[in-house]
Amino acid sequence: MRAGLAEVNLGHQLLRRSLDHAQPRLTVPVPTASPDELAAAADDNLVVHASWATAQLPGARVALAPDLVMVDSGLSCDTFNLVCRARLSPEAASGRIRDALTFFAASGHAFSWWLGPGSTPTDLPGRLTEAGLQATETEEAMVLSLAELTPDPRVPEGLEVRQIASLDDLNRFAALSAANWSPPDSLVVRYYQLTASLLLTPEAPQRLYLGLLDRQPVATAEVTFSGDTAGLYNISTAPASRHRGIGTAMTHLALRHARQAGCRHAVLQAAGSAASPYARLGFRSFGSITEFKPGG
Ligand SMILES: CC(C)(COP(=O)(O)OP(=O)(O)OC[C@H]1O[C@@H](n2cnc3c(N)ncnc32)[C@H](O)[C@@H]1OP(=O)(O)O)[C@@H](O)C(=O)NCCC(=O)NCCS
Repeated sequence: MRAGLAEVNLGHQLLRRSLDHAQPRLTVPVPTASPDELAAAADDNLVVHASWATAQLPGARVALAPDLVMVDSGLSCDTFNLVCRARLSPEAASGRIRDALTFFAASGHAFSWWLGPGSTPTDLPGRLTEAGLQATETEEAMVLSLAELTPDPRVPEGLEVRQIASLDDLNRFAALSAANWSPPDSLVVRYYQLTASLLLTPEAPQRLYLGLLDRQPVATAEVTFSGDTAGLYNISTAPASRHRGIGTAMTHLALRHARQAGCRHAVLQAAGSAASPYARLGFRSFGSITEFKPGG
């Protein structure tokens, strides 16, 4: 994979650094992986997902430090602006939380702080609340050893799934993703317009998929690759087409491709009721992920 170059703002230093630094440092044998190893692999994958294309946008700011990652896409959209991979010491935590708030105050952009199973210190949730952030959503962190992927599920009649390789399909993907908000979030569409030339290159660490039912676009999926980890994101089916097995079929195809590409395990964040179809594919929970946002 080609490394993207990002302006990386670490405290007072402005460095140019390869995003290869965002790649995982661990090779995780899943059946024996410790919770910390799984959390590290999942966090590193999230960093690639959130920063690879974004860091190359004009106006974006990405701060990749070993103890904290901050990504501001340049758009005021907390789908793309986030803080994650916190590995803060109790002594440094308050100062680094202030750094993050200052980072986003500089642009005034909306953001989310993703607190996962590996986030430290253990009292980070309380510290974020004290700093004025509010927990808004909690999801399951799930992992699957790709050697244990279940046999192919039944593919719903009329479903065609294709890996996105054209601007037209990327626009369809963006429109479906934006429609996960009500009203549809135009900044989601804008983000994919801005990143299209990056995401459509073979060097991108992300593969996007479009599902068409009777030739109409109805579903999306994304796989982000980091080392031997495949991270699933943007799994969605349009409301009118749900409960027919489309989400399961899209996810299974993406997982098969990840296994063919040499990945050994897959991770995802399961929102609410989505955990049950993933569990049926063999995923198991290894903790929870909570999203914090500025309050008020
Ligand atoms: C989560 C989501 C992608 C699922 O998509 P979907 O196409 O409905 O997925 P499936 O049809 O494969 O599975 C959904 C349910 O329908 C059931 N189902 C599948 N085929 C079915 C059929 N022919 N008849 C009846 N039910 C069926 C599944 O068993 C599953 O049931 P469960 O939730 O009780 O386990 C979709 O609800 C969605 O887009 N939600 C909003 C975005 C989101 O939350 N994404 C997930 C982020 S992790």
